[in-house]
Amino acid sequence: MVTKHTEELLKWDADHILHAIGTVGYNQGFAPFEEAQGVRVKDTEGKEYIDIASQLVNVNLGHNRRDIAEVAKAQIDKMMYTSTLRGYANVPSIEYSQKLAQVVPKGLDHFLFTMTGSDADDCAFKIANLYYKVKGERRYKILSLFNSYHGTLRGTGGATGMAKGADAECPPCGEHIHLPNYFCYRCPLHKEYPGCGIECAEFLDYVIENEGEDNIACFIVEAEQGPGGFISPPPEYLPRVREICSKHGILFIADEVMTGFGRTGKMFAVEHWNVVPDIMTLSKAITSGYLPLGVVAVSDEVFNTLKGQYLAPGSSESGNPICCAVASKVLDIYKEEHIVEHAAEIGKYARARLEKEFLPLPHIGSLSGLGLMLGLDIVVDKKTKAIPAPEVTNLIQRRGLEHGLYLRVMGNRLCFGPPLVISREDVDEALDRLYPVLAELQLN
Ligand SMILES: Cc1ncc(COP(=O)(O)O)c(C=O)c1O
Repeated sequence: MVTKHTEELLKWDADHILHAIGTVGYNQGFAPFEEAQGVRVKDTEGKEYIDIASQLVNVNLGHNRRDIAEVAKAQIDKMMYTSTLRGYANVPSIEYSQKLAQVVPKGLDHFLFTMTGSDADDCAFKIANLYYKVKGERRYKILSLFNSYHGTLRGTGGATGMAKGADAECPPCGEHIHLPNYFCYRCPLHKEYPGCGIECAEFLDYVIENEGEDNIACFIVEAEQGPGGFISPPPEYLPRVREICSKHGILFIADEVMTGFGRTGKMFAVEHWNVVPDIMTLSKAITSGYLPLGVVAVSDEVFNTLKGQYLAPGSSESGNPICCAVASKVLDIYKEEHIVEHAAEIGKYARARLEKEFLPLPHIGSLSGLGLMLGLDIVVDKKTKAIPAPEVTNLIQRRGLEHGLYLRVMGNRLCFGPPLVISREDVDEALDRLYPVLAELQLN
């Protein structure tokens, strides 16, 4: 039973708020959150939860940092808004891009500001189209992976390879081709790593040869599949697909919207394999999720090719000064507080506990992921790897809340992705709360 106040809020919410990526006229029925601090959030009933999802894997620095709020306030006091469209400049966007240039992979230091991850990916596609147009080619096909997520816009919705059919009545633009993803535990090609010869990567070569390299604009890939369930590739995958794209002269786009800014224990996930993309998209943790901001980072080669061209994509909020000032402060904190190193270390600790205590549970089939982006595969039966009924997703989320955990379950994947600032003690408390949720599952 909840209070009348909570009940009324939930009723209004269900009747008046169309929840994005959700069912119209419906909410989860959980009391709304109204306070947050560090790794904890509190609902209108006064109940506290450890946030082991960093909300949407974006609140990397934890909730409600005062020092970031102060920077936002200072920028608000000084200049809330000026536009950067059509060649006008503002100081916060220049200063932020100077800082960002120091941490991105070599050469990727030309930036287009957007507002979200979806529009960063969308703009990246348009940049790829324009790049080839300048070279006198018309390349329009976009390659991506099944089970990938790149957004739900008309352009990016087509590249997203998960939950196919969910928005079938909103046909996406462009021609999108999906390839088998790199999920070894459930290999779509029915191979076994490492004897497989990374056929999932070789498949890219095959598709390009058969589709014709002269009409393919780009290959977009997450360096660890995020909304698809925290699935990391085998070590050879990223270097090999980079090589294949270079061989065919196809732009390689790393979607680091979720993995960027330390999530996997490196500043950017591509650094695990020393891969340098032609284009990289960023968002989410760029402001620790506090304000909307996205970036498309492009290589010298792409920038120099586009120089002098008219660039159509963009929005009124490109380079918003408050968002850029906050992103600058957030980047300072990542560096000064050694957040990435901490994420790598604490991620190892969490992984060791998950492996030792959770993997032997009857309904946990596998563990994957890097840094603090760790995914558990929930199965009915370990031998058959059968996936439980869809209701189990909500059941686990509900049980998590009962045990004081805000958690993220994507289909049958439990995604452990707390704020990167989490302490060892809080990891222990979170995992101690999670254990009974998974140990008491009865799925047979
Ligand atoms: C890898 C990836 N790309 C793109 C997006 C879309 O970002 P946004 O929700 O900011 O539009 C997401 C969001 O979860 C993501 O994880």
